Amino acid sequence: MLTNNLQMSNPVEVAKGIFHIGARDNESGFHYNHYMLLDESQAFVVSAGHSVNVMSVLEKFFLIAPVNRITHAVFNGSVAQIGGAVAVMEEIVLTAGGKLAVVSHPRSSHKISFYCGLRHESFYHVDTNGWKLTLDSGRTLRFINSNNLSFPGSFMTYDERTGMLFSGDLFSAYSFGWSLFANDFYLPAMESFHYDHLPFNQLINHTLDGLDGLDVRLIAPSHGSIINRDVAKYTQALRNIRKPFTAKPRTESPLINDPLDCFKAMEERSFI
Ligand SMILES: [Fe+2]
Repeated sequence: MLTNNLQMSNPVEVAKGIFHIGARDNESGFHYNHYMLLDESQAFVVSAGHSVNVMSVLEKFFLIAPVNRITHAVFNGSVAQIGGAVAVMEEIVLTAGGKLAVVSHPRSSHKISFYCGLRHESFYHVDTNGWKLTLDSGRTLRFINSNNLSFPGSFMTYDERTGMLFSGDLFSAYSFGWSLFANDFYLPAMESFHYDHLPFNQLINHTLDGLDGLDVRLIAPSHGSIINRDVAKYTQALRNIRKPFTAKPRTESPLINDPLDCFKAMEERSFI
């Protein structure tokens, strides 16, 4: 039985063969989740890391399997976030005798290539591969276009076998009282994050339409908590956000999870 009372210094198996390899960070209130899908002979890394923490992601991976088993890594985000992480991961996998394909969309890969020095052959482009990837075992991963949520070339990854959706910034939230799995406070935290950080809701709704027909059973966002029940409730909540096209920034705090903890943390850090 998975609970929130977990030792986060080790990888945590959140679905069969899928591990959370991120870390708890109560200082920033901003949790960057990373996930690793361990298949028969391959490993697929989602939200593969950024310049600050790529080594901690790899250290957790080392606890699960040899690094040359990583064959694919999704780097979704701005070049400023990813920094040299993608080049570091490629170098480590190559040095270990493996070969890494960076799963990406051309809208972001040309910038990654330019700033991080990757060759064109390093990329697996989702759009020219039918928005899917079939691993050697026959397991199929599907990619859903989430362009501009939050970056040009963003996409989500859906694992047919477990029904897990790696949703990127969609379904994400900020929180000081972070928990691995969504608790009662997650819904308003998620709504606030989308209101303040993501584009207007017509784009969100259009992107959510891309999930039609998929049996999504778990949602693993890049920030915040994993949604492991009531998926339809969270999806509908995003559809219901009414953000005017010309929305002005709000002045109240968008940071929620356990409101009392959140308030205390913000007070201590002079945010209010
Ligand atoms: Fe993000």
